[in-house]
Amino acid sequence: MKGKIIVTGGCGYIGSHTVVSLIEDGYEVVVFDNLSNSKELILDRIREITGIRPTFEKIDLADESQAKEAYRKHSNTDAIINFAAYKAVGESVKEPIMYYRNNMFSLLNTLQGQIDNNIKNIIFSSSATVYGEPDSLPITEKNETKRPFSPYGNTKKVAEEILEDLTKVNSGFSAISLRYFNPIGAHGSGLIGEFPSGVPNNLLPYVTQCAAGVLDELKVFGNDYPTKDGTPIRDYIHVVDLAEAHVIAVNRLLNDKNKSNFEVFNLGTGIGYTVLDVIDTFESVTGINLNYSMAERRDGDVAVLYAATDLARDELGWEARYGLKDMISSAWKWEQDLRTSLNRL
Ligand code: WQD
Repeated sequence: MKGKIIVTGGCGYIGSHTVVSLIEDGYEVVVFDNLSNSKELILDRIREITGIRPTFEKIDLADESQAKEAYRKHSNTDAIINFAAYKAVGESVKEPIMYYRNNMFSLLNTLQGQIDNNIKNIIFSSSATVYGEPDSLPITEKNETKRPFSPYGNTKKVAEEILEDLTKVNSGFSAISLRYFNPIGAHGSGLIGEFPSGVPNNLLPYVTQCAAGVLDELKVFGNDYPTKDGTPIRDYIHVVDLAEAHVIAVNRLLNDKNKSNFEVFNLGTGIGYTVLDVIDTFESVTGINLNYSMAERRDGDVAVLYAATDLARDELGWEARYGLKDMISSAWKWEQDLRTSLNRL
């Protein structure tokens, strides 16, 4: 074994893919999850893929005593990857306290667990949302961070500031914050993927659920943006590429290759696609015609976001391997397999 890693939120979408990549890279993994937005069955799926079912602790990390106990039990840990958080942008606008309480308390309890047990390394799951509306493109890590549009986004920004403060005073600790652009896609096996609760807010799950007949019609939110076809541009990134970047970040910390105690990296492909590009690619990859129509702009959406990928390439040696077609075909495979297994239940 290369080392022991705690993955908080390891049953969730990006967490579960990262657990697979860590196990494949030779790490021992312990998953902390309260299953508030995920299923324990995912651990069996991880075993189907890797041959190993990670150790599982069902705990609510926002609860101080549960977190304390769990971190004490696993004090011989080399690094933590922190995914445990609520992530629905719209819900966070309606329920800010719930978002701040859950996302901040679980992070603070995790950091306290690190301090109490001398666990020196943490990788934090951040988001391009910390850039707000960018002043320049592509977005580099030097772009100014701004007050995000939503409480969800603000939990990411404040979390980064806390990590920066902590690593400043505690030179034995190191943190890497990974700022994701738009994660989509699923594991090639079709065994793990995104399973949004209720009606999805994000584009790809909405598209696949429309194609599967679960939803009737896709609304394209705005076609009067200053882009080639009027719809917003985003940098979509395959979740398997993201997962691999986390393993590289863990290796970097455990091998003392980090250049400072607090580092941030963008994780994107550097390529922007419009909403209509995504729809066209979905239709050509699957042969399914989507039922969609143009609608009003959605509040809080910005016109164009895509990453500068140089820092991740130069420092981590990481570049996205998968393109939009792979992302879409894997998401579609996952959606179909999911519908089949749900029908069987
Ligand atoms: C993409 C594009 C929509 C749904 C969000 C969060 C961000 C990160 C990733 C992580 C936009 C359009 C969407 C639909 C549409 N969060 N769209 N019809 O908003 O770029 O980023 O997810 O947890 O923090 O803000 O992603 O997938 O919602 O939207 O036209 O039904 O698709 O307007 O242009 P977004 P998204």
